Amino acid sequence: MCEAKRQAPWWERGVIYQIYPRSFQDSDADGVGDLAGIESRLDYLAGLGIDAIWLSPIYPSPMADFGYDVADYCGIDPMFGDLVGFDRLLAAVHARGLKLLLDFVPNHSSDLHPWFVESRASRDNPKRDWYIWRDPAPDGGPPNNWISDFGGSSWEWDETSDQFYLHAFLPSQPDLNWREPQVREAMMAVLRFWLDRGVDGFRIDVLWHIIKAADLPDNPINADWTPDRTQRDRLIQRYSTDQPEAHAIAAQFRELADSYGDRVLIGEICLPDDRLARWYGTVDRPQVHLPVNFHLVENTWNAASLRRMIADYEASLPQIGWPNWVHGSHDARRIVARVGEAQARVAAMLLLTLRGTPTLYQGDEIGIGEVMIPPDRVRDPQDLRQPGLGIGRDRSRTPIPWDASAYAGFSTVDPWLPLNEDWRARNVAAQVQDSSSLLSLYRSLLALRRSHDALAIGDFTLIDSADDVLAYVRRHAGECLLIALNLGDQTQPLTLSQSLPTEPCVVEVLVSTLLASTLQPSHLAFRPLDAALAPNEGLVLRLKEKH
Ligand code: NOJ
Repeated sequence: MCEAKRQAPWWERGVIYQIYPRSFQDSDADGVGDLAGIESRLDYLAGLGIDAIWLSPIYPSPMADFGYDVADYCGIDPMFGDLVGFDRLLAAVHARGLKLLLDFVPNHSSDLHPWFVESRASRDNPKRDWYIWRDPAPDGGPPNNWISDFGGSSWEWDETSDQFYLHAFLPSQPDLNWREPQVREAMMAVLRFWLDRGVDGFRIDVLWHIIKAADLPDNPINADWTPDRTQRDRLIQRYSTDQPEAHAIAAQFRELADSYGDRVLIGEICLPDDRLARWYGTVDRPQVHLPVNFHLVENTWNAASLRRMIADYEASLPQIGWPNWVHGSHDARRIVARVGEAQARVAAMLLLTLRGTPTLYQGDEIGIGEVMIPPDRVRDPQDLRQPGLGIGRDRSRTPIPWDASAYAGFSTVDPWLPLNEDWRARNVAAQVQDSSSLLSLYRSLLALRRSHDALAIGDFTLIDSADDVLAYVRRHAGECLLIALNLGDQTQPLTLSQSLPTEPCVVEVLVSTLLASTLQPSHLAFRPLDAALAPNEGLVLRLKEKH
């Protein structure tokens, strides 16, 4: 695991920041964020200390799934701007030494995409096979039992051409047929279009869905399903996802990305460790650089289960596999809503000190919590189609509150989704000025990561600790940092000295989740190694050996 000799690429050291463009900054008073708005906030992001920005989709779209229904892969939706504005944004991002990643949505398009309009026009249209069309089952129903991720059958009947078409998500998001060579060529051209413009890589939407078992067999019934779970979970997605042929497609994407140099591919893939690890590919035939690891979103928030999960994930990685971590997204419940205010500070330290590339979701740095969306303002199609399950995603997509002015400085009109209720107090401007804020903690941790290779690229070892404590060591080039996180609300002993491989005599506190901000070198706090951890306290300690 020694990283000392290797020159780490930017995406291994770097921290990615996810922007949900509709909700970042509105510049043209329509209540929806846009590219010019993002450009106007770049100094904030540079100051925060992140390295790359990933934009959720900005392409022309009817917005049935808020941009994940693409009607033109090589354009910009007028709501967000245009290609000139995109090029300006990209140049401005690069001018600040940051990278820009786009969201690539290859599994499905919008039903308004000209490819699908042609495909559905008639059975003998040259683009018919660009999508997945089938005759009804003998009983006249859908061709198989597959269930859409957003509820209901995955098949939609098309009156025009008298066949069903497949859609893993909304009926207005037909799945493309990746067994059709022309689809592959068209999509590779899309990637080249953006790479030629200078984008630094892609997050690839639902990559593990991209190709289905050729004869589309029924999926097995999930015997563990209970009515509080989504309709999709009634079945095990054995034949609709994670097919062997998908890996060759990922490898083709990688070959293209590599031909452009230092670009990165991040694959959205929700699978258990052993199957996730396969998406790295091999040294000779690599696939995506980062198959997304969702464990921090899904895992129970306690030290024992986090420790087990981290150990299992680390152990599952192939030799070429660089880890990655995320604890929030536009799809997941906010981290504060899941773990509470006090633990959100510990979560920030965990995300930014584990081994691997972290992705930070917009608004998590100021601790936006649960936002109640009144029923008449619900927009998320997943929630509208399966109400009452508590799976709504609008609550994580609310606009960024920048300051305490009207509409929180996000817009000059009522935004498309409500603001967090506490926006007058919880906003970026307020937290920038407050050295004890969550935002200040994030900035401290990001700065620490940048200045300590042990955190960015160092080795990782879990350390035995008290039950509610998660502790690990990061080492690089002679530096040794100990991270100790109290996952509970009781004081915990930090009796670590026996578990450490070498015995240090000096312990400096570099960051505490409970202290105001990063301690300057001249004020470094020294403490005995076997001192206690306060409730909900997380510490980054530098251990120095006796001289
Ligand atoms: C995953 C995206 O993150 C989600 O927002 C979207 O609804 C689905 N893929 C479908 O594209």
